[in-house]
Amino acid sequence: MRLKNTVAIVTGASSGIGQAIAIRFAREGAAVVVDYVGDADTPAATEMQIASFGGRSIAVAADVSKPEEAQNLIDRAVAAFGRLDIVVNNAGIEKKCDFVDYPLDEWQKILAVNLVGPFLVSQAAARQMIVQGQGGRLINISSVHEDLPMPTNSAYCSSKGGLRMLMRTIAVELAKHRITVNNIGPGAVFTPIDADVEAKPEMEKALMAEIPLNRWGKPEEIAGLAVFLASDEAAYITGSTYFIDGGMLRQSGSY
Ligand code: BGC
Repeated sequence: MRLKNTVAIVTGASSGIGQAIAIRFAREGAAVVVDYVGDADTPAATEMQIASFGGRSIAVAADVSKPEEAQNLIDRAVAAFGRLDIVVNNAGIEKKCDFVDYPLDEWQKILAVNLVGPFLVSQAAARQMIVQGQGGRLINISSVHEDLPMPTNSAYCSSKGGLRMLMRTIAVELAKHRITVNNIGPGAVFTPIDADVEAKPEMEKALMAEIPLNRWGKPEEIAGLAVFLASDEAAYITGSTYFIDGGMLRQSGSY
């Protein structure tokens, strides 16, 4: 077990990539706080899977874009498990819309969840980790779109570009506390965030054509990288993005 005796928070852990990370962390021995937004039964599938192999978790409802709820997430982790070692800022939303028509309220909501959320959760977590004095791990689930433009997705791309510089900046600030900060940049992973593409064969085909490995990524593949970055083996890694995208960022047109 690679995360034995650690306590981890995973935001947006009721589905998709966050769910796979929460389950895998628990399998590796971490006690996991499963953050979710929605009804009380929203995190049930994640919790049941963790319980099925005797893993430890609690579910906490917290909208990461709200300061009190972000702080509560950290407080609940410490109250339940006594400390905090790892945070995965995974919660994210996306809405595609032509730039010229993009509604301001939707733009602000995406920035609030995808960028302000990681700021709030990381800040509260770093304060706790500094008090503990034993370092820590902050991992953001970013995207290839922290670098790659995607027409009709300006809010999402802007939020992920911001997440890249938040990560780089605080990696330097927090290094003296042995808190490492890194991004994972997935490409197209088969999760509910891409339900629109998954439902339309022609859109799916066009997306696959952009991926040299020519398939969707699996949430479990992202979880494997997250375990590594959260583990002791990654103690000297900070300030970088690790892309896991089937070669998407390296594709060069119509080959
Ligand atoms: C987005 C998906 C998109 C994928 C590859 C992800 O970050 O959430 O909508 O298909 O990047 O472009």
